Amino acid sequence: MDATSADVFDIVGIGFGPSNLSLAVALEELGQGSSGNRASALFFERQDDFGWHRNMLLPSATMQISFLKDLATFRNPTSKYSFVSYLHDAGRLARFVNNQDFFPTRREFHQYLEWVAAGFRHQVRYSHEVTAIRPVTDAAGPHGCLEVEVRHTGDRSVRVVRTRNVVVSTGLAPRMPENVARDERVWHSSEFLTRYRALDPARLNSVAVVGAGQSAAEITRFFHDELPHAQVYSVIPSYGYALADDTPFANQVFDPAAVDDYYFGTDSARQAFWDYHKNTNYSVVDDDVIRDLFRRSYDEDVSGDRRLHFLNLTRVSGVERAGEHTRLTLTQGDPGELEVDAVVFATGYRAMDPSGLLGDFDAHFLRDAQGRHQIARDYRLVTAAAETHGRVYLQGGTEHTHGLTSSLLSNLATRSGEIADSILGFRLIEEELALPTEERVGTAG
Ligand code: FDA
Ligand code: NAP
Repeated sequence: MDATSADVFDIVGIGFGPSNLSLAVALEELGQGSSGNRASALFFERQDDFGWHRNMLLPSATMQISFLKDLATFRNPTSKYSFVSYLHDAGRLARFVNNQDFFPTRREFHQYLEWVAAGFRHQVRYSHEVTAIRPVTDAAGPHGCLEVEVRHTGDRSVRVVRTRNVVVSTGLAPRMPENVARDERVWHSSEFLTRYRALDPARLNSVAVVGAGQSAAEITRFFHDELPHAQVYSVIPSYGYALADDTPFANQVFDPAAVDDYYFGTDSARQAFWDYHKNTNYSVVDDDVIRDLFRRSYDEDVSGDRRLHFLNLTRVSGVERAGEHTRLTLTQGDPGELEVDAVVFATGYRAMDPSGLLGDFDAHFLRDAQGRHQIARDYRLVTAAAETHGRVYLQGGTEHTHGLTSSLLSNLATRSGEIADSILGFRLIEEELALPTEERVGTAG
């Protein structure tokens, strides 16, 4: 079926990054069972084509998860959409194995994601941004479905589609320090390569990178490689980069089972996840990148030719712009100023928040005592009464309920399988209820 021909879709996915790509895979594979429980799905993606953090596809950046944590394997180890299947198709399986590395480059993983996405092109509308989700209601009451408003990013035309379920997977939102505005010389790491390529590197004689996370460390290394004539300043709030803990016991926080331990755990158990294991992901850097940067710094000690500068225990609290000059206000440690030709704020991200898309409809969903959305185990926004409008699922923005994997790839295959199961399960129940009583399973005799 051409997905656009359905009057009411079973599923509309908002965003087509790895999360909803993994959902598309799960829906296809679960729909192949003997039940023939196929769902109609359509995905909207505002980018013009598939792209996964393209602005951070730096030459030597590697994945932070094993290749086995791909879009499907943890749910279906025999999936034709696994990373191993991709390697086989690309003719690199033997050489990949000989390379003996669990962590492919981000470039290679991106190629894998593009390879899978190509198989689902018929279900995706690229260059389409979703602007609102609202219930379909009239005087007779709710129609059991939702309306999704979509704008074409080129001609700005607006259309509306109806669906019984929405899966919001719009990803992380860049975070800048308060009062710092972005422009052609003040960048967030999420826009890095596009902004960098727009300037003449020969005219970048001094650059700064703010932050001590993986993005900051990778960009610092990139600048040091790409701008051999430039002074490179790394403004870091700690005394030095801290290590991302990916040792085996700690890594268990990303296991599918950890989601249940988090979701059904006590408040203190949930707090312990954060207190003890935040350093598996946030404000931390992979071992090889830390050692590489320290080695470069030490080599400069030896040569006496210093152009890599680490400003430790320092934060940036403001930016003043004048022509080609950018002046940073530094606080903590030694207060002062730093003038550079361009600055990258690798200052992290805010979690996904669906409230903007939901608008007034958001009032329909329950919040906890701290004002956060209540979310069911199947990643569904919780409503006060039975859902009469259609359901809203989240992939992302569920750290407070489902734990650390919320914004990561680690649990994608399992999570999207759980969401697909939930949607298909509700569909079966609704189909059953729509049947005359005598035709319902279990009522005969
Ligand atoms: P993602 O952000 O990838 O995709 C969301 C999509 O929605 C985007 O394509 C966006 O254009 C689209 N969109 C947004 N709003 C829209 C709207 N209104 N209408 C239509 N489309 C819309 N994690 C990990 O486990 N291992 C790793 O190695 C890495 N590596 C990594 C590198 C970098 C540089 C970053 C910044 C982050 C990571 N991560 C990571 C974490 C990261 O969140 C994760 O890899 C995925 O991007 C999550 O996939 P999603 O599809 O949820 O979001
Ligand atoms: P992050 O881990 O949240 O780090 C942000 C950094 O910015 C922190 O060190 C933070 O310090 C600092 N910071 C914030 N405000 C600041 C200010 N005003 N002055 C100075 N420093 C400031 O963000 P990230 O590095 O972008 O990583 C985000 C996610 O992407 C993580 O999951 C990461 O693993 C992933 N990632 C993966 C790859 C890869 O796969 N190769 C590459 C890049 C990123 P405080 O902690 O003190 O606030």
